[in-house]
Amino acid sequence: MIDRQRGWRMTSAAAVGAVIIATIIGGPQLGSAEVRTYVGVEACMECHEEEYQSYISYSKKAHSYDSVDVMRKGLSEKEYLECLQCHATGYGQPGGFVSVAETPHLQNLGCESCHGPGSDHIDSGDPDDIIANLSVADCERCHNSERVANFKFKPLLFGGAH
Ligand code: HEC
Ligand code: HEC
Ligand code: HEC
Ligand code: HEC
Repeated sequence: MIDRQRGWRMTSAAAVGAVIIATIIGGPQLGSAEVRTYVGVEACMECHEEEYQSYISYSKKAHSYDSVDVMRKGLSEKEYLECLQCHATGYGQPGGFVSVAETPHLQNLGCESCHGPGSDHIDSGDPDDIIANLSVADCERCHNSERVANFKFKPLLFGGAH
């Protein structure tokens, strides 16, 4: 019942409202977590060992914070924060990256940068609690024309993933 985009962005007030409405109309409730939050790649390892190993070993995303960090001296604070929208997991979203000190497990891009926040799914193990069907639009959020002149989705679909 949670639309995937809105699920990420829904404020807790809105989520509480939705639960109340769902209760009143007797429909399915939103589940324990009102807003799904980001848990980091280590939390996925236990059940998805293979994807985890290949991700950590081969994906540049697994080191994406370093790309920003090496250039940090030359960046204003505003520029630095802009970088994080594409180079850290869930920055600016509920339960996403805040700072290296507070949320070190989210400083690089993880599984959830594509599959969405995983807090419900790691509890339930239910495939319906995680985003699996990705389209090119999901990649273009970060791989936009400014970044990559010629982003070809199909050959790259599993590139950068696992
Ligand atoms: C407690 C075990 C468990 C944990 C932890 C877990 N998963 Fe899963 N996941 C499952 C099971 C079970 C399935 C369904 C069977 C399968 O596809 O392997 C699944 C399926 C998936 C799918 C496919 C869904 C579909 O509709 O086909 C994705 C994507 C996924 N998990 C991502 C993640 C991510 C990302 C994390 C970490 C945030 C994670 N999982 C953590 C158990 C887990
Ligand atoms: C949250 C932003 C974001 C999303 C969403 C995203 N990417 Fe990326 N991707 C990046 C960044 C940033 C890098 C570069 C990491 C670095 O080197 O610092 C990257 C790197 C890559 C690379 C380079 C090779 C490698 O090993 O990592 C490929 C291929 C790639 N992404 C494919 C995809 C595909 C396919 C999707 C959609 C299914 C996608 N990405 C979604 C941010 C994103
Ligand atoms: C709109 C999303 C977005 C923003 C904002 C962004 N990046 Fe990236 N960045 C990417 C993507 C996507 C790639 C991967 C391009 C590819 O490999 O095709 C990338 C790649 C890089 C790379 C190359 C890494 C490598 O190994 O090749 C560096 C360095 C980098 N970004 C630094 C930065 C810095 C510093 C900032 C902030 C000033 C920034 N980026 C802001 C999306 C973004
Ligand atoms: C660059 C984006 C991206 C990242 C990062 C990513 N995945 Fe995926 N994942 C995909 C795509 C694309 C699919 C294929 C979905 C489809 O078939 O439409 C997929 C499919 C899956 C599946 C379903 C089974 C399969 O292999 O087809 C699981 C489970 C999964 N991913 C887990 C993970 C885990 C765990 C991580 C982190 C270690 C991760 N993913 C990181 C893009 C990503």
